[in-house]
Amino acid sequence: MRIVAGNWKMHKTRAEARSLVDALREALDASPELRDTKLPKAGFRVVVFPPFTCLAEVAARAGEQSRGLRPGGVEIEIGAQDVYPGREGAFTGEVSSRMLLDAGATVVLVGHSERRHVIGEGDALLGEKVRAGLEHGLRPLFCVGETLEERESEQMGSVLERQIDGALGGLGEEDLAQIWVAYEPVWAIGTGRTATPEQAEAAHRHLRQLLCERWPQQGPSCPLLYGGSVKPENTHGLISRAEVSGVLVGGASLDAVGFAAIASEAART
Ligand code: PGA
Repeated sequence: MRIVAGNWKMHKTRAEARSLVDALREALDASPELRDTKLPKAGFRVVVFPPFTCLAEVAARAGEQSRGLRPGGVEIEIGAQDVYPGREGAFTGEVSSRMLLDAGATVVLVGHSERRHVIGEGDALLGEKVRAGLEHGLRPLFCVGETLEERESEQMGSVLERQIDGALGGLGEEDLAQIWVAYEPVWAIGTGRTATPEQAEAAHRHLRQLLCERWPQQGPSCPLLYGGSVKPENTHGLISRAEVSGVLVGGASLDAVGFAAIASEAART
């Protein structure tokens, strides 16, 4: 399984988002690796996470384009950047799983470092968000990762364990089968300072072990994505490592040609 995900964060008006998804479709179609990919459709996934305000528009656009795809062409799936637990109610400013599905999302980011560290979301709330996604058929892309201080004081392993147990603890095997996990070291996000392939592999091996201990059936196959300053130039080194199933890209996903180059690298590796 190869997954290439692009988090647009708080960027793009509707018109800008339309241009970006159109340009991305064009760039993906121009890539020989992707156009003629021999990978089975279910084994290679491209997902973009636009802001809420352009979600429906990007989903409609990507869907229209996908209908015209040649067999084997890569579909662009749509994800939401956040979700609030619950079906509906008095939660001013929040958006539910049902609303996201209705807008065309199939995946939802939960626990992104900016939600944890800028907005202040904790493990318990993140656990509720994961469950809200699962309950309504939205696949959670659950993010974990340590700060620089935690890494330097050799707490990476215990932080990942706390984050996994804090939000995913108590879920069943059938739940884990629906979840993708992203390792995003906080010190590598938006800093231009990527984890080395060795650091990424070590963290991913640790995560794999945690998942296998807790979910012996689904743990071995849960996709693990790396995120943090991924660019076309460093994709191969990261994705060729053991236990790295894909990448979660922030800044570089705003450039259609660069993001398609990352996807091509991922398909080639
Ligand atoms: P970045 O962001 O690629 O800009 O470092 C990654 C992310 O936040 O998912």
